[in-house]
Amino acid sequence: MRQVAPARPRTRTDELAMVVRQLRWEAVGVVSVELAAADGGDLPPWRPGAHIELVLPTGIARQYSLCGSVADRSRYRVGVLRERGSRGGSEYVHAFLRPGQPVRVRGPRDNFGFRPEPAYLFIAGGIGITPILPMVREAVRRGVPWRLAYGGRTAASMAFLDELAPHRAHVWRYPKDEAGRMPLDDWLARPRPGTALYACGPESLLTAIEEGSAHWDPGTVRMERFAARPRPAGPRSEVEVVCARSKATVTVPGDRSILSALEAAGVPVVGSCREGVCGTCETRVLDGEPEHLDDILSADERAAGDRMYPCVSRARGRRLVLDV
Ligand code: FES
Repeated sequence: MRQVAPARPRTRTDELAMVVRQLRWEAVGVVSVELAAADGGDLPPWRPGAHIELVLPTGIARQYSLCGSVADRSRYRVGVLRERGSRGGSEYVHAFLRPGQPVRVRGPRDNFGFRPEPAYLFIAGGIGITPILPMVREAVRRGVPWRLAYGGRTAASMAFLDELAPHRAHVWRYPKDEAGRMPLDDWLARPRPGTALYACGPESLLTAIEEGSAHWDPGTVRMERFAARPRPAGPRSEVEVVCARSKATVTVPGDRSILSALEAAGVPVVGSCREGVCGTCETRVLDGEPEHLDDILSADERAAGDRMYPCVSRARGRRLVLDV
């Protein structure tokens, strides 16, 4: 079995002052937003699959995958789908965000763990194309074999098809109103040696991919979720958290997250989504066994047990020692 746990660099979580440079319609319900540093300087580097947290003028913070060029340090680009039932993030971007407006950005942060592989199979559903697009560019740059299966409701709703057009021999498009559902069984039935699968899209697609790729080497399958999967409700066991750097011990009751208990105790920790999807609260585990309840770590990374997301994850035993 191949070892995958990629050594992801820790990425910055401090805020950048940025300005909206351009908005562009990319598809029905999808707008891309280009951002530049307010002082015109170079932006922090990032890797394909990374996301930023956009702090809107209303104070709402949302995570969006970077979909521009990793080589262009002068701007970031994100794609934003106008979501029904938006809690204010995508609605604000579509209705009110305009060129020249100041925004704040945290990150970039990389939870996807994209890395060099001999070959790639990319699967994207809807706005899930955004983190995949820079991966495609990297595969093209490296000259390695790649295929992309890209599904959407209609062709008009599928963003960035124009940017993929030069690579049409590698791209299989599945607008549902014309082609029906993406034939995942065909894509996943026979894993090819050396091929890694990277996928992003709605929960229904990712669940189907997880089930359909159960016979793949788990180290070759990586996906990123937009939202947390349902977790078992109800209180959990109390856990004692030893904060090695802060020299404090915090007892976390079963009805409270480790993150919020540490915050209440004055331990310097950072969180954002508080749902185990953004990666902001990533914390090194020095001792004890975490019970991983996030939607970020792969099976291999969970088994390593050396980091956790305390906004949702707990402990298998009574005690954890964390590097905070
Ligand atoms: S705050 Fe987002 S993963 Fe913990």
